[in-house]
Parts: sequence; structure tokens; C-alpha cells
Amino acid sequence: MRLFVNTFPSDKIYNLDALTYAGNLENLKDIEDAANYEFVHADIQDLEKLTAIFEEKKITHVVHLAAESHVDRSINDPLAFVKTNVLGTANLLQVAKEAWKNDFSNTLFYHVSTDEVYGSLGDTGFFYEDTAYDPRSPYSASKASSDHFVRAYYHTYNLPVVISNCSNNYGPNHFPEKLIPLMINNIIHKKPLPVYGEGLNVRDWLFVLDHARAIERIFSKGTVGETYNIGGHNEWTNIDLVHVLCDTMDEKLGRTKGDSRQLISYVKDRAGHDLRYAIDATKLQNELGWEPSLQFEEGLSKTIDWYLSNTDWLENVTSGAYTAYYKAAYETK
Ligand code: TYD
Repeated sequence: MRLFVNTFPSDKIYNLDALTYAGNLENLKDIEDAANYEFVHADIQDLEKLTAIFEEKKITHVVHLAAESHVDRSINDPLAFVKTNVLGTANLLQVAKEAWKNDFSNTLFYHVSTDEVYGSLGDTGFFYEDTAYDPRSPYSASKASSDHFVRAYYHTYNLPVVISNCSNNYGPNHFPEKLIPLMINNIIHKKPLPVYGEGLNVRDWLFVLDHARAIERIFSKGTVGETYNIGGHNEWTNIDLVHVLCDTMDEKLGRTKGDSRQLISYVKDRAGHDLRYAIDATKLQNELGWEPSLQFEEGLSKTIDWYLSNTDWLENVTSGAYTAYYKAAYETK
């Protein structure tokens, strides 16, 4: 959002968000008064409201990032993922098609998706744009379904669409239910660090601003109807990553080296836990000239620094509903 508001000063950018548990307008305080920015409170499940917004605001381009995104939540409440990710995306597509159907020129429906639609890799190999879909969690199944709907609208109605599938993100303002911010928060508070299974699952981590840069590049220069994979070429087993977080934070917090590693607690594995994700982003690099700008160590250090200097933000988002979620999710593990 911030990158688009700053990159396209003469375009009006609307931030449509339902503000559910992870949505937080505090995160965009620095741009809330920008002349080309406006927040619109709406849920993509609400077809009527979307229709009215498209008409009133004369929307011409959509970058669709609205989603339930946490695998563990999808295991406990799969239908919430069907409602937001499948029905919500179908609603947005339908509203865009109806609003734009007389003239698709100067319109675009950009769907932001995940590498998890491709399933789980063994020790070798990569996900390519033409890798067959093989989603294995309710979350990834809902995203795969939404991707299929986007392609269906392209082939059936000629709606101009583009899709990107990205690997795991990390960075500031990340809700602390995902691995990296959860571990940072727990290290700060000297709470147990719950590592699922043996900690040998592998994820490919990309700094959030590099993802935003890729989205901007694809939005501006991508080919309609195409899919682009986005990834960091930065694979880590969970346990190695947690070790780096522990050691870096011990240093930054002036704790004795090794202290935080004592907090690691191996817990019951996630059901259907995908072993490994790894993206091949060659197409995006060759065709659109994008590559990650930050080395992982630098990105991680920046991220930790952000959380250490924004403890009020952390307190805010981890009080109330988060505490109940955490108890339910982790006390039985
Ligand atoms: P997560 O951040 O939930 O992203 P995703 O499942 O979409 O890749 O999890 C990243 C990895 O970390 C995944 O293999 C599950 C693991 N994990 C833990 O070991 N402990 C935790 O508390 C969490 C949230 C995740």
C-alpha cells in the first residue's frame, strides 16, 4: 500500500480492508493523510457493498491481497477460508467484470497468491509457474481455488488478470502468529519457542518490501493472463532460522549467548505439515528484471530492530483476542 501510494502520486489508491484480527490502520499512519490515499472499510464477502464502491469510486485496477492467510487457523476453521478467500475473490471478480464489461481497456485485476498452492516439495526441486497445483491445507486449497477462479474469468470473460505466487514473507508490522514475529515476540518475553515436529521443514523467506516491489513491477509491466512466481532463493529449516533469531536477539538484547536457545520447545507437529517450499523466480527476473534487494541477515536484523523499537505495537496486537488464540492453539501442543 505504502509503495503504491508513493509510486503513483497522481492515482487515487483505495485501501479496502475488513479490519479483522490482523488488520490494523496503525500500520499505515504515515500515509493516512496522503492526498491520493483513502481507507474504505468493507468485507469482500459483501457483494452489494463492493458493487457500490466500484461504482462510486470508479475503480479501474484491483490489487487483491485480502485473505485469510494463516495455515494453523485454516486447520481449526476451514470455512472462514472458503468464505474470504474463495467467495470473496469470486465476488471481487464478478464486481470487476460487471463494472468494466463495456470496456476492458485500462483495467486490471491483479491477484496476489501463494506458493503453497503447488503443494510440498521433497529435498530437491523448485516450484515453477507451470508446476501442477497440489494444495494440502484448507488455506492453500482456498488460495488454489481463488487462483482457478481468476483464470476462469480471464478465459471465459476476457477479464484482464495477472497472478503472482510468492514464498513466505517477513518484515515489520507482521502479525505475531507467523513463525518469525511469533518467535521474536516470545524471545522478548522469554516465553517457550514452539517448534513444530523436528523443526526440519523448509521455507523460502522474502523481505516484505521486496514482495511489494515485485508486485509493483508485475502490476506495471507484467503481461495480462500470465503468472509470475516470486521468491527469495533463501531456504531455511525452521530450526536453523530459530537459532539465528535466538542468537541475534541475545546479542541485541545484551543477553548471554545461548540464553534464548534454552527457550526452544519441540511441540506436536502441524497436521499435514508441508515439508518444503522453494520458488524458482527466474521468469520474473528475466522478463521484468526483478530480484530481491536485501540479504536475509540484513532483513532479519532490520525486522528484529523494528519489533524491539515498537513494543507498544506488539503489546497492542497481542492483548485481547490474540491471547485467547494463543492459548487455544498452543496449550494443547
Ligand atoms: P508460518 O509462518 O505459519 O508460515 P507457513 O506455514 O505458511 O509456511 O510457518 C512457517 C514454518 O514454521 C512452518 O513450517 C510451520 C513452522 N512453525 C513452527 O514451527 N512454530 C510456530 O509456532 C509457527 C507459527 C510455525
